[in-house]
Amino acid sequence: MRLLITGGAGFMGSNFIRYILKKYPDYKITNLDKLTYAGNLENLRDVEKNPLYKFTKGDICDQKIVDSLAKEVDVIVSYAAETHVDRSIMNPREFAMTDVIGTQTLLEAAKKYKHPLYVQISTDEVFGSVESGKFTEESPFLPNSPYAASKAGGDLLCRAYAITYKMPIIVTHSCNFFGQYQYPEKFIPLFITNLLEGKKVPLYGKGGNIREWIYTQDHCSAIDFILHHGKAGEVYNIGTGWEKTNLEITKLILGALGKGESQIEFVKNRPAHDWRYSLDSSKLRSLGWKPKYEFKDALLETIKWYKNNENWWKPLKSGDYLKYYEEQYKNR
Ligand code: NAD
Ligand code: DAU
Repeated sequence: MRLLITGGAGFMGSNFIRYILKKYPDYKITNLDKLTYAGNLENLRDVEKNPLYKFTKGDICDQKIVDSLAKEVDVIVSYAAETHVDRSIMNPREFAMTDVIGTQTLLEAAKKYKHPLYVQISTDEVFGSVESGKFTEESPFLPNSPYAASKAGGDLLCRAYAITYKMPIIVTHSCNFFGQYQYPEKFIPLFITNLLEGKKVPLYGKGGNIREWIYTQDHCSAIDFILHHGKAGEVYNIGTGWEKTNLEITKLILGALGKGESQIEFVKNRPAHDWRYSLDSSKLRSLGWKPKYEFKDALLETIKWYKNNENWWKPLKSGDYLKYYEEQYKNR
């Protein structure tokens, strides 16, 4: 199979490329990535010389580049997106461009070259927040942040292309990812790296918000499973059932690093901070996929990885990253 992975220099895209190259030694992968602040070729150093892997720097909104690559592959798996909720609150336009127009551009190419499948990597955030119960694949889209609204726009275009042009498209809604190579602005790597740097951790509100978490390897196996066994035209939730408050996770990280709760700084809440995400993933599980890792083990593995890979994350926490932090708190 020849895959075009978009956003493959980001966190989960790079983990997926590594996973596929290892598991399927005859698959060819083209990685199209704009290399925004979140894209990092260091994430793929170990596979860059693999003759079955090719990198192209480019924007998924650029139809010419997208067409030139799409014409050479069988399936697009699209990870490329602006992904950080706090950044979307400060600069929504980039999110609308990449997550909506970029998706439309990719769909257009998949249509033109009659691909047998297009896979859209999306999020549980499109459903909004749920106090009790779980989101199913049929839950209405009620996005609360510009990020979630932009992802919902991309997902709706997938639906419209599938229906209007009878295209074979699968959309996945996943819960929160964590693991190696996650950019250290996201909750878990930010907290681990802050503590490793001797800094405090900024917990929004009272830390009671709940997220459902999935480890990198389990998300990769879910997308692999969907790629090979998913049904075109379907939507799949990808969840683990590991629901945790942010405070619970903070305490686990503090404990693992031998730090006390005095390292927590309760800061002003994120605007429109969704209270809880929770997915009903029984549809995917009924086909035969299930997560393999236990939350606590996966979290400890992740902490160990950040401890052992300071060379990877230290350079990321400087320059523009610091400007982003100043701006984020200045406007709250
Ligand atoms: P990330 O922010 O780590 O990486 C995104 C990648 O996309 C980067 O390499 C970036 O350079 C690239 N990119 C951004 N704009 C682009 C453009 N216009 N053209 C080409 N490349 C572009 O992302 P992630 O956290 O690994 O998330 C991957 C996907 O999974 C996203 O679609 C996201 O919405 C979805 N998702 C993420 C999570 C999560 O917890 N992180 C959970 C569910 C779904
Ligand atoms: O649910 C899937 C989504 O998960 C993905 O679609 C997004 O791309 C991804 O960014 C993530 O969104 P969240 O907003 O849930 O993730 P984030 O890591 O930003 O925050 C997780 C929780 O931690 C959330 O309740 C906010 C809180 N938080 C986050 C940061 C960065 C803090 O308390 N302090 C922080 O500094």
